[in-house]
Amino acid sequence: MNVIRFSDLCASGQATGKRVFIRADLNVPQDDAGNITEDTRIRASVPCIQMALQAGAAVMVTSHLGRPTEGAFKPEDSLAPVAKRLGELLGREVPVIANWVDGVQVAPGAVVLLENCRINKGEKKNNEELAKKMAALCDIFVHDAFGTAHRAEASTYGIAQFAPIACAGPLLAAEMDAISKALLAPKRPLVAIVAGSKVSTKLTILKSLAANVDQLIVGGGIANTFMLAAGLKIGKSLAEADLLEEAKAVIEAMKARGAAVPIPTDVVTAKTFAADAPATVKAATDVADDDLILDIGPQTAHALAAQLKLAGTIVWNGPVGVFEFAAFENGTRTIANAIADSSAFSIAGGGDTLAAIAKYGIEKKIGYISTGGGAFLEVLEGKTLPAFEILTRRAAG
Ligand code: 3PG
Repeated sequence: MNVIRFSDLCASGQATGKRVFIRADLNVPQDDAGNITEDTRIRASVPCIQMALQAGAAVMVTSHLGRPTEGAFKPEDSLAPVAKRLGELLGREVPVIANWVDGVQVAPGAVVLLENCRINKGEKKNNEELAKKMAALCDIFVHDAFGTAHRAEASTYGIAQFAPIACAGPLLAAEMDAISKALLAPKRPLVAIVAGSKVSTKLTILKSLAANVDQLIVGGGIANTFMLAAGLKIGKSLAEADLLEEAKAVIEAMKARGAAVPIPTDVVTAKTFAADAPATVKAATDVADDDLILDIGPQTAHALAAQLKLAGTIVWNGPVGVFEFAAFENGTRTIANAIADSSAFSIAGGGDTLAAIAKYGIEKKIGYISTGGGAFLEVLEGKTLPAFEILTRRAAG
């Protein structure tokens, strides 16, 4: 993707003394008291801010937090807890500025956090007047919010249209590079793991990947629907019978390309969905009417792990079993360790996937871990995200 990179502007001195507006994604989970429970996105946003400060820019950073009602600020919508954490990471105080749309005072070498941008009326609908006001605040607009790259809002899209310069921050650029490496010019075999409870939520992803990948490993409820499509019984497991034809079409599309959707040969079942439910390993052909499939079996996990070790590129979205329950985590743990041990370039994303990566402590062994939730899924669907579209257009002049 041909976009202007903020790192290049800084390296060539073009950001020095300039007013730089960074759109970050600091939308982090909080507990009921407002404490941040997971700060990956804040940590991932630090390099861009540091880059701007080191370049001697006057730095304005903003983000959304949650989905507040526009024009009706409530204390719980405030970025104040984020500012505190950001300040700890930057080793300096980060003041929060409210009502910032009509003007912001910030000196070169200083950084301010502009209050939750979704409070501004017109943000979600990408109001042109609002976007123009935001653009007027800066010389350089830096899009560094990959988690929000699938949204076309005033602070992510409109501002990029009207700012004097619009460029990609280091996080957005890193995500873009990793995605290109995995999906546009992958080292083959390219293996994708798509798991989750429902085919319906990931049907577009399955169809899009079926045209590109060499192996499409399905897991969770999605695998159950594929097992049904392959003529197997799945007892009372979660599945979507109305999507059988779609699942068959994915299998056929893969077959026609000489590629495959591996169907489990064994599974781990229980009679109830509970952490302490007795687990039984059985052949995929032996599933009883009152069985629930809660994981892939050891033979299947072993076979998939062997394939993953031979892969050139791995894309991972979704655990293959109920990995939160010890008795049903073997499949996900085996897959996770195989990805970690593989020399393939791997990219992973999605909330449950990140939880599995953290549980098995393999963060450092994954090629790239995406900060995107919905944005990562839309990339897998084959969509061009609005952030990349507008930044590419602006780079073209
Ligand atoms: C996310 O958490 O996926 C991003 O921050 C985007 O948030 P949104 O779905 O509210 O736009």
